[in-house]
Amino acid sequence: MRRITVLDSSVANRIAAGEVVERPASVVKELVENSIDADARTITVEIKKGGISYIRVSDDGIGMDEEDAVIAFERHATSKIRTSDDLDNITTLGFRGEALSSICAVAHVELFSNTSSSKAGIHVVAKAGEIIKHEEIGHPKGTTVIVRNLFYNTPARMKFLKKDSTEAVHVSSIVEKFILGHPEISIRYINNGREVFFTPGA
Ligand SMILES: Nc1ncnc2c1ncn2[C@@H]1O[C@H](COP(=O)(O)OP(=O)(O)O)[C@@H](O)[C@H]1O
Ligand SMILES: [Mg+2]
Repeated sequence: MRRITVLDSSVANRIAAGEVVERPASVVKELVENSIDADARTITVEIKKGGISYIRVSDDGIGMDEEDAVIAFERHATSKIRTSDDLDNITTLGFRGEALSSICAVAHVELFSNTSSSKAGIHVVAKAGEIIKHEEIGHPKGTTVIVRNLFYNTPARMKFLKKDSTEAVHVSSIVEKFILGHPEISIRYINNGREVFFTPGA
């Protein structure tokens, strides 16, 4: 009898997600990197309960149109490289196309985006790796990603998380690194409704 089966994509994606998303701070890192890659001048990071219940990253970068906002959730979907030749000349922080799909495999994700301030934007709702809704919506130029209930469907990962305040410390130290590395970007960090850091950008 055959012992080997190929895992279906939802199981495979959940396993792969574990490589990218270890804790709330990894989500924040991936989302802020995406904002920087999108040429944001202003980034807001907001978390609640250590980021386990709520993470929001908003930027004023180039944004996505409807087509891109939907495909961005697919595994290996990226605008940053096209061929293997591009691998030798990477100028962005991301290029694997795995962050959004991984985050979405282990959380509830909402994405709002707009490529221009003069027309309607797009709102995408995704859960457990599937897009459950997309519609037009008003949003300024740029992108907002909201991640709720991290690891709601991966109890093993959830168990590995520390208490909210410890997870918040991990998030703070990631945000601090971005602040130090990117003085040209205005970064605001809000934890449980309280502004912790604000840099005006150069
Ligand atoms: N904040 C953002 N602003 C504009 N585009 C974004 C943003 N976040 C994600 N994207 C788009 O979604 C794609 C997939 O994102 P991600 O899964 O992080 O993969 P990667 O960053 O490795 O390309 C990106 O290549 C980019 O085109
Ligand atoms: Mg990325």
